[in-house]
Amino acid sequence: PAFFKPIHSTAPPSLTKRQTKISVIGTGNVGMAIAQTILTQDLADELALVDANPDKLRGEMLDLQHAAAFLPRTKINASVDYAVTVASDLCIVTAGARQIAGESRLNLLQRNVALFKNIVPPLVKYSPDAILLIVSNPVDVLTYVAWKLSGFPSNRVIGSGTNLDSSRFRFLIADHLDVNAQDVQAFIVGEHGDSSVALWSSISVGGVPILSFLEKHQIGYEKETLEKIHKEVIDGAYEVICLKGYTSWAIGYSVANLARSLLRDQRKIHPVSVLAKGFYGIEGGNVFLSLPAQLGRGGVLGVTNVHLTDEEAERLRNSAKTILEMQSQLDI
Ligand code: NAI
Ligand code: 2OP
Repeated sequence: PAFFKPIHSTAPPSLTKRQTKISVIGTGNVGMAIAQTILTQDLADELALVDANPDKLRGEMLDLQHAAAFLPRTKINASVDYAVTVASDLCIVTAGARQIAGESRLNLLQRNVALFKNIVPPLVKYSPDAILLIVSNPVDVLTYVAWKLSGFPSNRVIGSGTNLDSSRFRFLIADHLDVNAQDVQAFIVGEHGDSSVALWSSISVGGVPILSFLEKHQIGYEKETLEKIHKEVIDGAYEVICLKGYTSWAIGYSVANLARSLLRDQRKIHPVSVLAKGFYGIEGGNVFLSLPAQLGRGGVLGVTNVHLTDEEAERLRNSAKTILEMQSQLDI
């Protein structure tokens, strides 16, 4: 029997709103930080979780479901079987090995490529129209791997890339200048990791280019200070891993921020890992790395033509080379 008595004698209007479904693969620290941010920000009608460890998976699903009374309504399912992901709009892959203290992201490559061969094909089978958003590390090379394994057009395969590094960067600049990080427009591009490139020449605070801002406020501008801030961005993840074992909250917010732009067609510009060949003089093969890209319901809508100094462009091409060298060792 129906719980509610209908208030009309006529049939209720059919539901016309399209349901939004997000799948998160890997329910470790990162997958769960993403899942919980997606729930609190009301980004999906349905959330599917997949992991190789069935007990951990069911435990995480129940724990999230038990928060239902405090959250927007979202249907949460979990299974080791990829059928649970059927008809997803967005599949976020976080499964895989993570760094131990002092280990570089690139060290994880072989282990995570092997996992991706079991993860990407079933995702494609169940959600052939989805956008794939890769988070597992090394994220740029694994985004390339996911693109190859999926056969998807490149606009629907994205790596979370330097959206996170750029947030770290904006935080540090904001802290340095005592302003709000949301008023700082600043991009880190290139590899998510050690060869990333800070685009100092295009930074602005509240619409004011940073170099004139620093001059106006008589804050000593030193290249060394700026380089120190960039180094802090690179070292930031290593420091967190040394201290707490893994990073989770910032990547959770970073990926939810991307999910919103994609699924709600926000057309916002994010530094994310995209097929970069041909942009800014990047040649030598199909390489994914972060460039400022416009994101919407169709995935990557375009790459912004930010002005780079010669030095920035050179560093970006070197970052591409680092990634291509890793890729050349792959067997996929
Ligand atoms: P974790 O060890 O907490 O979780 C990994 C999860 O993957 C585990 O629950 C494990 O059971 C699952 N898993 C392993 N093999 C699987 C398979 N074949 N299918 C489905 N699930 C599988 O690790 P954590 O901390 O969540 O990190 C996950 C990944 O995210 C790592 O590669 C890490 O380096 C990366 N990461 C990337 C960031 C980025 O900015 N791109 C930021 C932080 C982490
Ligand atoms: C991060 O930057 C470890 O890639 C991870 O937090």
